[in-house]
Amino acid sequence: MTRIGIHDLAVATTHHVVELDDLAEAAGVDPAKYRLGLGQERMSFPAPDDDVVTIGAAAAAPILERHGADGIRTVLFATESGVDQSKSGGVFVHRLLGLPPTVRTVELKQACYGGTAALQTALGIVARDPRERVLVISSDIARYELDSPGEPTQGAAAVAMLVSADPDILEIEPIAGVNTTDVDDFWRPTDSTTAIVDGALSLDAYLHSVTGAWDDYRAQGGPDVDEIHRFVYHQPFTKMARKAHAHLAAHTGVELPVETLETSFRYNRVLGNSYTASLFVGLAAVLDHEDDLAGTRIGLFSYGSGSVSEIITGIVQDGYREHSRRDETAAALAARVRLPLDDYRALHAATTTSSADVETPHVTTRPYRFAGVRGRARHYEPTTTPATAERETVEPASADR
Ligand code: CAA
Repeated sequence: MTRIGIHDLAVATTHHVVELDDLAEAAGVDPAKYRLGLGQERMSFPAPDDDVVTIGAAAAAPILERHGADGIRTVLFATESGVDQSKSGGVFVHRLLGLPPTVRTVELKQACYGGTAALQTALGIVARDPRERVLVISSDIARYELDSPGEPTQGAAAVAMLVSADPDILEIEPIAGVNTTDVDDFWRPTDSTTAIVDGALSLDAYLHSVTGAWDDYRAQGGPDVDEIHRFVYHQPFTKMARKAHAHLAAHTGVELPVETLETSFRYNRVLGNSYTASLFVGLAAVLDHEDDLAGTRIGLFSYGSGSVSEIITGIVQDGYREHSRRDETAAALAARVRLPLDDYRALHAATTTSSADVETPHVTTRPYRFAGVRGRARHYEPTTTPATAERETVEPASADR
């Protein structure tokens, strides 16, 4: 049987970053609540000319530089924070990357689960024709209302993955455990730039989904919990993964040390929630920071509110370290520009669902930018014009190193 899986993956994020210590101070909250209680230190935040298209294209560009576009006949763009009700964000990315017209491009949505749906779709396409390679892009900007409990769990990132036969990094195994449960824990009406969330219910729904998907995974013949070397969870905030792992341990009756999750937190702690990308950001962190994973099985738990969840597993390939993008990811994190809290609040408040014509100011230093709206249509371009914003390189947080 052909081995199919993740051949390459790359992480990108926005121009700005907000320090959660600044947010805590302004809110009169003990900073330890965010650092320890939620397990978060920073959150990426978009400049006016960043969005899910620009960071998605930035994640995908280095994959095309390394592998070329041969065999790519499908682009799957997964997002909760799409930029149009009709047109796929992937079509904008397709043009920015100069992909040939002989490509099918589509956007997938189911809250934070969409990236896993895209990965499964890609695996199916390659299984049908192993000559094909599929570009999967998960890209999100997580927004909650200012001064709401969800505010410190905002964030932004994109992960692009090339799915192919004979993958260099992670062979995805065929068995999956899935669960759909209709629940109003988190959703975002079409007229709202921020999510509506019932925090306590969302935690319960997430944990319910862990056991639901796990039981199905075992019923489908998936290996037992002690045959999975590392777990990586969707991370709305990193503490949630600890809760999930403890929940799975209690459910299975097997001791599962939470310390084994630590490396999967390294990027998410400083990026914040990135919805569809979050799970794959966690996977990238593990592959970038652990040297001895070749031949081991990694379990991936995906949760999308509303809710759909899935557990899949993958076998780490020999030589996976040679393909790491650790240095590029570290550079992208360190190059973010710290946003003072007043500016963050002003930018957040200015976010709109309006499609009125506008020229967007040049701010982002990322490779692509949202140029503005003309004739109610969005326009994107490479960032050739120097950014006007003064850069203030952020010292790496403990978790960045
Ligand atoms: N020092 C250390 N820890 C502290 C502390 C302090 N001074 N003060 C509080 N804490 C701890 C609390 O004990 C708590 O820890 P435990 O859960 O382990 O008990 C933690 O900090 C959070 O405190 P609260 O429960 O009081 O926090 P809150 O009510 O203000 O908000 C939240 C927490 C509900 C998660 C909120 O941030 C939220 O609504 N976030 C968005 C929703 C979300 O992320 N849900 C997750 C599941 S849904 C999902 O996964 C999909 C998705 O991506 C959105």
